[in-house]
This record gives sequence, structure tokens and C-alpha cells, in this order.
Amino acid sequence: MIRKAGIKDIKQIQALINAFAKQDLMLARSLNELYENLRDFWVAEENHKVVGCAALHISWDDLAEIKSLAVAKKSQGKGLGKELIDACLSEAEVLGAKKIFVLTYKPDFFKKFGFKRVGHARLPHKIWAECINCCKFPDCQEIALLKIIAK
Ligand SMILES: CC(C)(COP(=O)(O)OP(=O)(O)OC[C@H]1O[C@@H](n2cnc3c(N)ncnc32)[C@H](O)[C@@H]1OP(=O)(O)O)[C@@H](O)C(=O)NCCC(=O)NCCS
Repeated sequence: MIRKAGIKDIKQIQALINAFAKQDLMLARSLNELYENLRDFWVAEENHKVVGCAALHISWDDLAEIKSLAVAKKSQGKGLGKELIDACLSEAEVLGAKKIFVLTYKPDFFKKFGFKRVGHARLPHKIWAECINCCKFPDCQEIALLKIIAK
């Protein structure tokens, strides 16, 4: 089941993200960041446990970002990643975002959903504010992809 996250899910979301972050597959998130951005998050639930998450974050008047996509190893390959992306894209449409971007180490996964690779310079300066606090800055290998959902 895919649903919006609640406060009770935050610790499971953090455990999921930070387990992959330890393997250098995605960026770690602090509890503070997760609580403050709780309303961005969708979760996938199986047997009352959080096994997946993704966040849709509004960046600017026509731009949103999909962040922190993760599906637990045991639950991968069952379509949950796709359902989480679909939930974020539907929400973006409802909110009126026209362009969705991702910064990812898994470009091929996002290309399946119509995202196209773009140069980092195509994205507004504002989004790099978060990167300055990242331990990987400025040698980040993340790839930027963009999907236009409305003109
Ligand atoms: C990437 C990830 C979210 C995929 O989740 P998932 O639930 O296994 O994905 P799904 O089962 O919904 O797969 C949907 C489609 O994407 C494909 N796919 C899955 N992982 C892929 C990858 N790494 N690269 C390319 N395609 C991939 C599947 O084969 C499937 O294709 P199909 O519809 O043609 O059958 C999951 O592997 C994960 O959490 N990885 C670790 C964290 C991570 O890398 N997050 C990415 C954000 S930086």
C-alpha cells in the first residue's frame, strides 16, 4: 500500500534511507530534516512496516524535486518504486508543478518514467543550497534528470 507518511513513520524512513546511504547509494537524512519535510513523504507499507519511501519537494513556482526514493532490499522488484514515483508525479500535477527533477545515482531507473538527463546548469541556483552542506560537495557524482509534465 502506498500512502502519505505520518510522524510515526519517520524513524523507519530514516533507517531505510540511511542503510542505503551507508552503501553510498543515496544521501543520508537527519531526523530534523525528515520531521521538517514530513509532508513531502510518501511511504510503501507491507505488513504494517515501512518498506519504501519517496518525497516530492516543491522548489519553485513551476519546479518540484523527487527525493529520497528507497525500497527495502526484500521488497524490491515488486513495483513499489514505480508506485512511489507515480504517487509523487500525480501529487506534482495536482499541486501544479510543471517540471520535476531528480538528482540520482540511478538515472536508468528514472528514464523509465520519462525523465531526461540535463546539465546541472539547467536547474536553478536555489536547489544547490542543500548541496553545500553535503559531505560530498563539490565532487558529487549525482546525475540530474528532468521530466516536463505540463507546458
Ligand atoms: C531504485 C529502487 C527504488 C527501485 O525500486 P523497486 O521497487 O525495485 O522498483 P520497481 O520494482 O518499481 O521497478 C520498476 C521498473 O524499474 C526497473 N528498475 C528497477 N531498478 C532499476 C535500476 N536500478 N535501474 C534501471 N531500472 C530499474 C524495474 O526492472 C522495473 O522495470 P519494468 O517496469 O520494465 O519491469 C530500489 O532499487 C532502491 O531503493 N535502491 C536503493 C536506493 C536507491 O538507489 N535509490 C535511488 C534514488 S538515488
